[in-house]
Amino acid sequence: MTMGKYVIAGNWKMNKLPSETYDFVKEVVEATKGAECEVVCCTPYVCLAPAVEAAKGTHVKIGAENLHYEEKGAFTGEVSAEMLADLGVEYVIMGHSERREYNNETDETVNLKAKKALATGLIPIVCCGESLEQREAGITMDWISIQIKKAFAGISAEDAKKVVVAYEPIWAIGTGKTATDDQAEEVCGGIRALLASLYDEDTAKAITIQYGGSMNAKNCAGLLAKPNIDGGLIGGASLKAADFAVITSAAK
Ligand code: 13P
Repeated sequence: MTMGKYVIAGNWKMNKLPSETYDFVKEVVEATKGAECEVVCCTPYVCLAPAVEAAKGTHVKIGAENLHYEEKGAFTGEVSAEMLADLGVEYVIMGHSERREYNNETDETVNLKAKKALATGLIPIVCCGESLEQREAGITMDWISIQIKKAFAGISAEDAKKVVVAYEPIWAIGTGKTATDDQAEEVCGGIRALLASLYDEDTAKAITIQYGGSMNAKNCAGLLAKPNIDGGLIGGASLKAADFAVITSAAK
């Protein structure tokens, strides 16, 4: 049982070459055939064109790992929502802890990006998550609440239903240290309750809440069986089609 629509999204991060992308996405298409969830590959900007080409006419959707919130103009090196949509991209990640740490991503830019993505017809995957210090200090939910409230500021209930929230405890990312099923469920349930208080029960139930952080072929079933975990944002395990397919088939 789950609440929101199941979405399993790969976040390739800074991996794979444009020249490898077409064949790899075709592999993902083949391996995930019959999946009962939404299957998404989020790729580096330079891989998006071949990824979209390979996914065309299939069940696999393509996402970007970032966007700029401005419409257009003098923003050297940036990519707008409209450019992504024009390419056939359907999802976009924002607020990932790596971008918060290395690229000045803040709750304010996450909010601007979410609003821009929604206005352009892209589905935002909004990441949130606490550090190990915050978890040990017992302020996990306080911290996540600030991130979620700021990310959703000014977004209508109708638009909020389209957003995917990814709960990614920073200490679990790329470390092989997964949150336990109960730890992940506790926070995802807390996020759902917060969304219900910001909007209403129906809106909160419609929002997809993913867990991310060392989710893999071995531990995915337990996490995805939890009522408030509607999918996963997958780093390392999304780089191998067979592993990714085990996760997509567990999401039902
Ligand atoms: P890993 O699955 O490699 O831990 O990465 C998780 C993540 O950051 C997805 O966005």
